[in-house]
Amino acid sequence: MTSPVPVPASGPGAILDVRGLRKVYAGQGRSVEAVRDLTFGVAPGELVCIVGPSGAGKTTLLRCIAGLLDLTAGSVELSGRKVAGPPEGMAVVFQEYGRSLFPWLTVRQNVELPLKEKGLAKADRRAKVAEALEAVGLTDSAGAHPWQLSGGMQQRVAIARAVAYEPQVLLMDEPFAAVDAQTRADLEDLVRTLWQRLGVTVLFVTHDIDEAVYLGQRVLVLSNRPTVILEDVKVDLPDERDQLNTRATPRFAELRHHVYELIQQAKQGRRPDGEEAP
Ligand SMILES: Nc1ncnc2c1ncn2[C@@H]1O[C@H](COP(=O)(O)OP(=O)(O)OP(=O)(O)O)[C@@H](O)[C@H]1O
Ligand SMILES: [Mg+2]
Repeated sequence: MTSPVPVPASGPGAILDVRGLRKVYAGQGRSVEAVRDLTFGVAPGELVCIVGPSGAGKTTLLRCIAGLLDLTAGSVELSGRKVAGPPEGMAVVFQEYGRSLFPWLTVRQNVELPLKEKGLAKADRRAKVAEALEAVGLTDSAGAHPWQLSGGMQQRVAIARAVAYEPQVLLMDEPFAAVDAQTRADLEDLVRTLWQRLGVTVLFVTHDIDEAVYLGQRVLVLSNRPTVILEDVKVDLPDERDQLNTRATPRFAELRHHVYELIQQAKQGRRPDGEEAP
């Protein structure tokens, strides 16, 4: 990788521009203010992690960015265009991969489906599917059905499907929460490898602090609900990372410690300076 991209807070230069985002779920007689006020930008090719306490509004934020939920206030722009429904250049990997793959389709067909919807010709689709399955190490399982695979393999199918689509922006919502530690480490490295190889912009939600620091160039730490950004932490670790050595460096420990403290404070209700508690 080359040197890190300069990071615009928001505005020109950001591929993804989130401004004043607010989301209130309005129900019968009950309304929940999930996200209060979020403003941040993501530069093209950046890998940004988002952490926050459970129930903070991380999934809500991602669904708003993906155009799957209406905003109560504020705006989301992808490459300068307002998002008002699932935008073309975006792919999402959800936490519940089991439900996001179609059991009656083979692995190959699952990966191919969005490419069909995109209108790609058959030969082109074939080539992209083969390349994506190879990238996630699933070439041999192309003809299998999802239910014949382990959890980690299914999650790799979901990643292959997102990658084959060649999105400008890839959103991932706690994608590895349900796999074992070893598989998780492998998948983390897979995400970093694919990110470096494809130059895609990645927004990665996790509640694992170590994972956020290991993966990200930046970690956005969210407050408790109603969500605001507590801190935008720059991860100044070298781009070449590996599970053993990176995690053993003093800087990794410092960053981890810092994010951990922020999360503890978030859980205890800390808001950014000057902001009133809900
Ligand atoms: N469809 C909905 N209707 C009403 N309230 C909702 C809805 N979806 C989420 N919420 C509420 O919004 C808040 C934020 O939920 P969200 O799922 O975004 O949190 P999260 O940070 O992703 O949590 P977790 O870490 O547990 O995945 C919660 O209080 C939740 O109960
Ligand atoms: Mg969630």
